[in-house]
Amino acid sequence: MPAISGGKFVVVGGASLVGSHIGAQLLAGGAREVVLIDNLALGSTDNIDFLLSDARCTFVRGDALRLNELYDPMAGADGVFAVAGFLGMPMLANPWMGIDVNVRGTQNILEAARYQRVKKVVGSSSNGIYGAIGDEPNTDDSPLRWTGMPPALIIYCASKIMGEGLGLLYQQKYGLDFLALRYSAIYGERQHKRAISGSQMVEAYERVRSGKRPIIERDGKQVQDYIYVGDVARANLMAMSSQASGAGMNIVSGVDTTQNRVVELVTKACNSDVKPEYFTDPNKLLMPQQLKQGYSRARAKEMIGWEPQVSIENGISRLVAWLDEHRS
Ligand SMILES: NC(=O)c1ccc[n+]([C@@H]2O[C@H](COP(=O)([O-])OP(=O)(O)OC[C@H]3O[C@@H](n4cnc5c(N)ncnc54)[C@H](O)[C@@H]3O)[C@@H](O)[C@H]2O)c1
Repeated sequence: MPAISGGKFVVVGGASLVGSHIGAQLLAGGAREVVLIDNLALGSTDNIDFLLSDARCTFVRGDALRLNELYDPMAGADGVFAVAGFLGMPMLANPWMGIDVNVRGTQNILEAARYQRVKKVVGSSSNGIYGAIGDEPNTDDSPLRWTGMPPALIIYCASKIMGEGLGLLYQQKYGLDFLALRYSAIYGERQHKRAISGSQMVEAYERVRSGKRPIIERDGKQVQDYIYVGDVARANLMAMSSQASGAGMNIVSGVDTTQNRVVELVTKACNSDVKPEYFTDPNKLLMPQQLKQGYSRARAKEMIGWEPQVSIENGISRLVAWLDEHRS
């Protein structure tokens, strides 16, 4: 399996939240060459400027929907990270493009990797593939439970399952090693507002910093599994260099955190004691209320040896410090 040190790696969707952290960890891990491909439909070079000052790292403006734009950057690559994707909010805004990128874009990445004899592709999936989980046991093998979910999220979750299926098919048919990583709600430095839960953190921050009360939806008792972006990037590198192949696995903290607690932590990290207010915008894209998630991270530990390292308290402090630094 591709060792990080000395290898060439391509990150498609490289200007993203996750891609920028993968790029940073690849360079820190001694990669020989790192190519970040992105069409900048959603991400920005602001996310990766700090990486491009390293001579080993290059940026290619390319579109995952144009297969021909993926071939040359993947020549001689040891591994590819398929990160490009449309999250819940962009999927709601433009489902046509979202389905194209999440499904056909993933297929193009796999096809270019196969053609260039890349050893392994690590795909960015989502724990959204389980849908609206209830009190049922929730393991790495749970099915999609889509009843009651907003349509845009059904489409997002199904598109992620398609991406996983395509990766597994490429492994079966062509022997291209593949792992799918199913992230929970990611947050951290270079946070955007394209995912529901990460956005809630930034919105709470913005209100506290502008002297307003942060807003909590419903009664705030709904829980979410949050995972720090640096832990996600580390999982990608561990997946790439592991022997494991042909599987999907949760990359989650395994800890349920209520929205009340998240807002409390954001407020505390801002050194404020402002109290939240409770308001639910009926037009806002929200998951059905879940009082328990309890995601398992057993398979990631078993297959690639990964466990999270950053607690939500620590991660939110890092996020707030980054937001403070970039507020202007
Ligand atoms: N952020 C989360 O909470 C979360 C949770 C679960 C899964 N994921 C998955 O992880 C991946 C990365 O998430 P993120 O938050 O870093 O995403 P992001 O929104 O920051 O980045 C997505 C990137 O894909 C790029 N892109 C879109 N269409 C493209 C195309 N046709 N060609 C090339 N690039 C294209 C965008 O410009 C952007 O830089 C996504 O696939 C997402 O579905 C994210």
